[in-house]
Amino acid sequence: MTSMLQVDKVTTSRIQEVDMNNLDFGRCFTDHMFEMQYAHNTWKTGQIKPFGPIEINPALNVLHYGQAVFEGMKAFYVDEKQINLFRPDVHHARFNRSCRRMCIPETSYEVFIEALEILIRLDAAWVPKKRGTALYIRPFIFANENYLAARVSATYAYHIIMSPVGAYYGEGFNPVSLTTSPDFVRAVPGGTGEAKTAGNYAASFLPAQQAQQDGFTQVLWLDAIDHKYIEEVGTMNIHFLIGDTLVTPSLTGSVLSGITRDSVIQLAKEWGYEVQERKISIDEVMQASADGHLKEVFGSGTAAVISPVGRIAHKGQEITIGDGKIGQLAERFHNTITGIQYGQLDDYFDWTHPVSIHI
Ligand SMILES: Cc1ncc(COP(=O)(O)O)c(C=O)c1O
Repeated sequence: MTSMLQVDKVTTSRIQEVDMNNLDFGRCFTDHMFEMQYAHNTWKTGQIKPFGPIEINPALNVLHYGQAVFEGMKAFYVDEKQINLFRPDVHHARFNRSCRRMCIPETSYEVFIEALEILIRLDAAWVPKKRGTALYIRPFIFANENYLAARVSATYAYHIIMSPVGAYYGEGFNPVSLTTSPDFVRAVPGGTGEAKTAGNYAASFLPAQQAQQDGFTQVLWLDAIDHKYIEEVGTMNIHFLIGDTLVTPSLTGSVLSGITRDSVIQLAKEWGYEVQERKISIDEVMQASADGHLKEVFGSGTAAVISPVGRIAHKGQEITIGDGKIGQLAERFHNTITGIQYGQLDDYFDWTHPVSIHI
């Protein structure tokens, strides 16, 4: 296949400046990035170029109206010949769905995967090798017309940047604590909750700050109409093991359709669990805990894969789940998904996209 991209390599790598044993999430970036511009109703030829600043005009549309989408995915070191991208096809499909909601022109999977393969090959040495570490990949598109009118931009910039990230669980699993928010909601029916768009996150910061001041890790979002059905957490979806049934809030339009959520559901079905994607109220969870039926609660997301939940508070009531450790089923999901990601377990569902490399 002939390349659709122009490639401009760095002359000297910055990798020596980075302490690969002490990586802070999203602070240091690999040598190269991808860039592609949209104008006159078409995406231009994409470029791989040295990572670096982009010049912006103060009238840049996205700075004022937030027309922007992004993705968050990972690549994993397998051995000196292979790095695995995890489910790039479904990440790209979600990227395009987010674009549609935000009136941003869609992009092709061919360009996306070619850009990723070139970036991974060029920056293979940046993929940390230890179990638990990964290369975090951030594709994003923003409106870049220099025009102060509140309307759809005519031009866009599409970038992919990559950041080596350390082990999420350095000291073992720390269960997170969650609280519902009495005052705020994350998303409304018909709104943008289903899209991975910048404004959703900006809007969640104040309630998250309040939750942290009250001693909780994150907000457990409830629906905007009845304020009782559970939707998701800041950057993860949520799962409840009630009896032997795995219950997950359904994708109602205001919940982000997590790729890890989907992986958990596929595995649970494969393992013979009854899986229910349905409305689940906070009262049902509190009651299941009181009745002794709530066995495990855990979040799922690209960053941590699986995050055990140890405590949930709602309207002055608080429940504790498990004994502060990761539950058995959550651990099984964690070990299986990461085992597949690092190429150590059979990729039964064809989730990984191997990239061959020579470091
Ligand atoms: C709001 C929100 N929900 C859920 C998730 C989990 O999605 P995924 O498993 O695709 O990372 C994320 C992270 O991307 C998120 O930002």
